[in-house]
Amino acid sequence: MYLYSVIAAAGLLSLTQAETDPRVQVALTLDTPSNGVSTTPSGRLFVLYARVDGTQAQGLPEVVEWINDTGVPFPQRGVELVRRQHVRPGHDAGPKLVVVDLSTNQVKRVYNMANVTESASLLDDIRFNPATGMGYLTDAGVGALIVLDLDSGRAIRVLDGDESTGAFTPPSGEGTLLRSSTGGVFPASGGMFRIETQYLDAAFYNSSLANTLAQYVEPFALTPSTGGTAIDAEGSIYVSDTDRQAIEKVYANGTRVTVVRDERLLWVDAMWISSDEKLWMPAAQLNRGVPFSPGGVNRIVTPLHVYTVDIGVGPSGIDHA
Ligand SMILES: *[C@@H]1O[C@H](CO)[C@@H](O)[C@H](O)[C@H]1NC(C)=O
Ligand SMILES: *[C@@H]1O[C@H](CO)[C@@H](O)[C@H](O)[C@H]1NC(C)=O
Ligand SMILES: *[C@@H]1O[C@H](CO)[C@@H](O)[C@H](O)[C@H]1NC(C)=O
Ligand SMILES: *[C@@H]1O[C@H](CO)[C@@H](O)[C@H](O)[C@H]1NC(C)=O
Repeated sequence: MYLYSVIAAAGLLSLTQAETDPRVQVALTLDTPSNGVSTTPSGRLFVLYARVDGTQAQGLPEVVEWINDTGVPFPQRGVELVRRQHVRPGHDAGPKLVVVDLSTNQVKRVYNMANVTESASLLDDIRFNPATGMGYLTDAGVGALIVLDLDSGRAIRVLDGDESTGAFTPPSGEGTLLRSSTGGVFPASGGMFRIETQYLDAAFYNSSLANTLAQYVEPFALTPSTGGTAIDAEGSIYVSDTDRQAIEKVYANGTRVTVVRDERLLWVDAMWISSDEKLWMPAAQLNRGVPFSPGGVNRIVTPLHVYTVDIGVGPSGIDHA
């Protein structure tokens, strides 16, 4: 078993205008950019908002459950939900991973990540290893992996500053590098390395191994600047291409193919595969958002959409634990 880590890379770009593809269907219409959707086998649907459009997160829901064409705050009003994505540590509180029990809609557990993050950290995704009880998180702000023992809550930070978790090239959208309002570029986007999870798990109990993990990292695929990934039941990885408005599929043997290309797929962020064999693609237009636009101007065009495309294969059991 391998853990795949996505960092930055520039593929060869063919920046001719993508056209629309009728296989791409509108699933949701939104006023606010979403950088993630999740479904459950029973048919519940959750939407994560990314307020890069200049709206204030304060007092507005970050996660909603989609019921009757409306976003209902989740898990409930009054519960301070700090979701794993786009959480930055302040002076008092570090990022947290929050577990919500879907049968009761109550917060079941909060993992404090303060000890394994830095002020510029951005914990933006997690994968689970049910066989060993470990979770693996990416720190996309600084460039590192975090190995979390889901039972004890203890976590370690590994591959900090390694090329596999760092800035191979900065992220880019619609053919242009993303820049902050002060002109800086951002770390970590495309180019994929992998490491066998047995080494991450062993490093959890062996600090000298933790310090020499880089020797077990292998290059895997020259993936493009991306907003997010998803893994299917056959172990293939779907990667959004934020320059070409496309979705690429990387087979377990490393071969890359384009699944779909469509001009509407503007910065597809974290994707999701539902049990009815659809790939969900939130077109977040993040590159047009306030943090990434020259002069801090919001260039996002509303309404925004979450799209789906049939891929003929269901989700990975470990992607959705
Ligand atoms: C959604 O619509 C159904 C059918 O009209 C209704 O029974 C249900 O109460 C609605 N749920 C919410 C949360 O509004
Ligand atoms: C963080 O580290 C301190 C000092 O080592 C320790 O006492 C504390 O339990 C740790 N907290 C977590 C959540 O791991
Ligand atoms: C810890 O890892 C080091 C480096 O890989 C290895 O030499 C050592 O045998 C390991 N210790 C244990 C107790 O497995
Ligand atoms: C990789 O796997 C895919 C899917 O099974 C297959 O179509 C392709 O030919 C393989 N490529 C190589 C180089 O083996």
